[in-house]
Amino acid sequence: MVHPKILLIVGGGIAAYKSCELVRLIRKAGGEVTCVLTEGGAKFVTAMTLAALSENPVHTTLWDLKNEVEMGHIQLSRQADLVVVCPATADLLAKMAAGIADDLATTLLLATDKPVLAVPAMNVRMWQHAATRRNVATLRASEVTVLDPDEGAMACGEYGPGRLPEPPAIMTAIARMGIQPAPGPLTGRHVLITAGPTHEAIDPVRYIANRSSGKQGFAIAQAAAAAGARVTLVAGPVILSTPAGVTRIDVESAREMASAVEAALPADIAVMVAAVADWRVAGTADHKIKKDGSGAVPPLQLVENPDILAELCRSSRRPSLVVGFAAETEQVVAHAQAKLARKGADWIVANDVSGDVMGGEANTVHIVTPAGVESLNEMPKALVAAALVERMADALA
Ligand code: C5P
Repeated sequence: MVHPKILLIVGGGIAAYKSCELVRLIRKAGGEVTCVLTEGGAKFVTAMTLAALSENPVHTTLWDLKNEVEMGHIQLSRQADLVVVCPATADLLAKMAAGIADDLATTLLLATDKPVLAVPAMNVRMWQHAATRRNVATLRASEVTVLDPDEGAMACGEYGPGRLPEPPAIMTAIARMGIQPAPGPLTGRHVLITAGPTHEAIDPVRYIANRSSGKQGFAIAQAAAAAGARVTLVAGPVILSTPAGVTRIDVESAREMASAVEAALPADIAVMVAAVADWRVAGTADHKIKKDGSGAVPPLQLVENPDILAELCRSSRRPSLVVGFAAETEQVVAHAQAKLARKGADWIVANDVSGDVMGGEANTVHIVTPAGVESLNEMPKALVAAALVERMADALA
């Protein structure tokens, strides 16, 4: 598994602070974490801390109607590869054993079809109490992995088993459950991708745009992340959801896209898929331009936008592999060859957009490099992405 997804339920105990370190370790290892904070957990760590560390929204309540529409508590429990309860308090273990579902955390635990790892932390007497012993035995019999707590001095001043195992030991337990980030061909690489159109404002309500849907660029981002890369996706205005494990930066205009690309450097690979507007309107109007009834049309003066790809190729921080795209309607390969030289890119991926490629699901591309041209058959954009990512990994290896 390249980027395992872990749903982390943080219960209400002093050891909750160690769940922050666990989030950090999972992220560092290449895993993804979504946190659920119980009411008790929120007395010890904040949703803000967990959100910042996990780079994901933190869920706290079952009665969040927006989430019910968009995702639902059932999906939340199913999207994960593993559910980790850390710290698992005596109360959480008891509810899990009895099948009680009276808040978001316990509802998810009852609804999930994924393996569950519970990491207990509690006072030594509570751990040794017959009720807890019974609950742990019940959970283990129903295939929940319950770790044994560490032995030592406790926050309450007593001594014995009940301390939360250290986060590295929890990571080992996660790996033992088969949930280990596996290296992919792009592990350790940073891939920077632009996608979608840009919008160039005419006035506050009008803009110049193009038909790019962003689908090919998003598919490449998804394939690069699946290959283990850290992916930054600079996206123009598109209606697409962010692929898992991808850091997305939304922009509107070419100039915003250029700054976002610059800010995302350094990168090992840059794939500039965006259909950047070549021109923007000189002197965007501050107010909506009005018809004056005379029939006169406003003059639209255009100025050239920065060429993000060409500037990146000239930059001192040029990624080792820079891939440009060329959407053409005629002489596809010849134009791409000219573009390769003019822009200074390593490859130009040329596609014929005279049909319904823009917005469509399939693409026919030619990979143009100084060494020659490789033409791929028409295939879904996801397969084009996989083919490109495979060649990128080979080129860097
Ligand atoms: O010059 P043309 O727009 O055909 O070149 C296409 C390639 O250059 C694409 O990779 C596109 O993302 C990139 N490009 C850019 N900035 C521009 C124009 C194009 O990065 N202003």
